[in-house]
Amino acid sequence: EQIEKGGYEHFMLKEIHEQPNAISDTYRGRMLADKGIIRMAGVDDNMERIANAKRIIIVACGTSWHAGLVAEYIFEDIARIPVEVEYASEFRYRNPVITENDVVIAISQSGETADTMAAIKLAKEKGAFAFGVCNVVGSSISRETHAGAYTHAGPEIGVASTKAFTTQITVLTLMALKLGKFKGTISQSDFQFHLQEMERIPEKVKEALKSDKLIQEVAFKYKDAPNCLYLGRGYNFPVALEGALKLKEISYIHAEGYPAAEMKHGPIALIDEQMPVVVIATKKGHYEKVVSNIQEIKSRKGKIIAVVTKGDEEVRELADYVIEVPETIESLTPLLTTIPLQLLSYHIAVMLGKNVDQPRNLAKSVTVE
Ligand code: G6P
Repeated sequence: EQIEKGGYEHFMLKEIHEQPNAISDTYRGRMLADKGIIRMAGVDDNMERIANAKRIIIVACGTSWHAGLVAEYIFEDIARIPVEVEYASEFRYRNPVITENDVVIAISQSGETADTMAAIKLAKEKGAFAFGVCNVVGSSISRETHAGAYTHAGPEIGVASTKAFTTQITVLTLMALKLGKFKGTISQSDFQFHLQEMERIPEKVKEALKSDKLIQEVAFKYKDAPNCLYLGRGYNFPVALEGALKLKEISYIHAEGYPAAEMKHGPIALIDEQMPVVVIATKKGHYEKVVSNIQEIKSRKGKIIAVVTKGDEEVRELADYVIEVPETIESLTPLLTTIPLQLLSYHIAVMLGKNVDQPRNLAKSVTVE
């Protein structure tokens, strides 16, 4: 097992550090940035069917559901197709309206999650086109769907999902770009810029990983907090949910993710000098509005841990800790902002002496309801 961990103390830490390679493995062979081409057999072979979908319904559970939420922003932004993101367990039991014009995308690392599988079977029965985004090759969901795209992240052993999340977002981004290009909803120059920027992501993830020492300091400071709030907006709202889930899963600290602007409708009541609030405040995406949310937290004496774009000065004045990530286009920021949140939950769990790779009560793959 020590050999499999490749010198890291835990699989989770190894998998966090594998993300630069995992992301490039996901787009390698699919994306020819200099030629402006994306090849994905599962999409190419079914282009008309997918691009003409009246609606895309994404079904998933857990972290994969969060990747689905990020994809909702990407598909609507780039391909202009309406998207609904559903918990597979709710979708399958609520007599959903599904038509032959719908495309249902199942996102699943393991490809074995029982609820996601059942949702896909239901969608197929109602005539929808089923597309799978799985990591495990040959898994049940990948076999049950009409077409799909693997994430090629390599085996993920840690129960808390890390590289599966970022590679799912990578695949879904490529898919949205392909559809956008086919439909003409993204300009050629924007398309090209996205591809070039995607190629820079692995290096930028490496840079984000360098904040590890600082994050250990933050972890030490807040490891005994009973609660933690995560806030983000737009593309980074699902990242806030995922950050909170990671903390809950492995450190057993109660954490909640919220859209930053929604804070005033509830969570703000919880803020006092004991409450650490992790805020994603990257330069693009409603930056000024998030800064004003940070001010509201500060005036209630909450502790602010901000994830910002490199070089940011404004938030530095307000926050207790500032963690920088490199700049990129807005739709790709989740691939960077999620890195410090993974590391933060990892270090807190280690400092609290928890079983990081196999947290209590959780399973890597949930094959029963
Ligand atoms: C379990 C795992 C999570 C995962 C979820 C969905 O709860 O512990 O890490 O996100 O299942 O799994 P899937 O394999 O379908 O992505």
